[in-house]
Amino acid sequence: MDKDGQPLIIVSNRGPAQFDRGPDGERTISRGGGGLVTALSGLVRDRDALWIASAMTAEDIAVTEENGGRPIDVNLNGVDYRVLMVESDPEAYENFYNVIANPILWFIQHYLWDLSNAPDIRKEEITAWYEGYEVVNEDIANCVISQIEDREDPLVMLHDYHLYTAPAKIRVARPDVMLHHFVHIPWTQPDSWRVLPTSIRRAIFDGLLANDIIGFHTRAYCTNFLACCQRLMGYEVDYGNLAVTHPGGRTIVRAYPLSIDADRLERAVHSERVAELEKEILARRREHLILRVDRADLSKNVLRGFTAFDTFLSDHPEFREKVTFVAHLQPSRQDVPEYREYLERIEALVAVVNHRHGTTDWMPIDLRIYDDFDEAVARYKHCDLLMVNAIFDGMNLVAKEAPVINVRDGVLMLSENTGSHEELKEFALTVNPFDIQDQADAIYRALTMSPEERRDRADGLKRIIHSRTPADWIGDQLADIELARTEREQV
Ligand code: G6P
Repeated sequence: MDKDGQPLIIVSNRGPAQFDRGPDGERTISRGGGGLVTALSGLVRDRDALWIASAMTAEDIAVTEENGGRPIDVNLNGVDYRVLMVESDPEAYENFYNVIANPILWFIQHYLWDLSNAPDIRKEEITAWYEGYEVVNEDIANCVISQIEDREDPLVMLHDYHLYTAPAKIRVARPDVMLHHFVHIPWTQPDSWRVLPTSIRRAIFDGLLANDIIGFHTRAYCTNFLACCQRLMGYEVDYGNLAVTHPGGRTIVRAYPLSIDADRLERAVHSERVAELEKEILARRREHLILRVDRADLSKNVLRGFTAFDTFLSDHPEFREKVTFVAHLQPSRQDVPEYREYLERIEALVAVVNHRHGTTDWMPIDLRIYDDFDEAVARYKHCDLLMVNAIFDGMNLVAKEAPVINVRDGVLMLSENTGSHEELKEFALTVNPFDIQDQADAIYRALTMSPEERRDRADGLKRIIHSRTPADWIGDQLADIELARTEREQV
């Protein structure tokens, strides 16, 4: 609920639940993956909220139609959600998700381009923008507008890079709306946006600046955003007060570092299935267990992580047969060619490393390409080193999840380019994600660290991670919204 006792409206592309059909033809329901769903699940827990999201599968559309286009109530892992799924034209959606949002915007916001080769902006991409991204944003905006129709002073909280132009469309229909937008991924420096044609760039910034408040995980992303507004748009920015003045008014920009949903973790840790999995893990473990848990995404830097492990084994043959590197990779965005190819390259590299170092009864890398949260949790508990070496990452919740339930004083290797590094750097082993030798040395350092140092670091991580809850994350945002409302009333 917001302050007027009205349900909170939150909006994102991916919703909490995805419907599909299993091989037996039965309808299945699964929880959406990634940090956004985790964050928003914490937000809607214990709150009356309506979550507007895109219908991403044919079954999502069928469920919505069966329900007469009204919101549906779902309970997933003990959390109740009210979800309204918005259907878009399939071709428009394909262009929106698989041509613009994931390859183009995601790549810009993680510095993933190899600019001499990509991206090529052709007629297809321009069409995908106008007939895809803009259309889906319009569909979502129209749904929001209809849901706030009879409300006075409504509050709408939008999320992430899929919905950059929806705020401006909502603002035109409802000048009085309080719009808040949280961006879950990094905001990159101005020049990285220059790959986009000026008209598209302007639509993105003017779309976002229709919000009253824009939130990011870190202050560094806030200042990057302000630099973009100044250098790409020529708007007046105030770095001290983190604000932009533009033709539509004034937008404030704030950092709200996201924390983990400890309740969800606790529930999983105490489940029977996790207990069973733990037994198996303990029975099969070698002396040392290295773990990574990621979506199979290019930004996660999986290849360099395995190459670092390869280097470590070559540099320190005394560790052969004593260590296993388990990698849980959740397949993601497989309709985007770059992602498909990335998974293939990962599998090929794992084969090479295992062939080079493995023995008849030891497989150095154990690659698990599927999503199983319980299994990841069981390994979080018993790993000696968690590798988080992302190229760039908005926050990275894995870096916060594993340390709170780990029972072996496990060490955290953490890329300096993750949002969570801002909070955890004192107690993590910081690595440069491009420096493979640095990562190989960090593996050695972690596995040979004194028990006292491991304990100090593990305790420090737990302390920092527990010091903020998802309630703080949302509380800070709602407090700023209140402030903005009061200021607006005074004008
Ligand atoms: C990241 C993004 C989210 C996205 C998630 C999963 O966490 O910030 O917006 O939902 O990845 O990606 P997907 O494309 O499967 O929704």
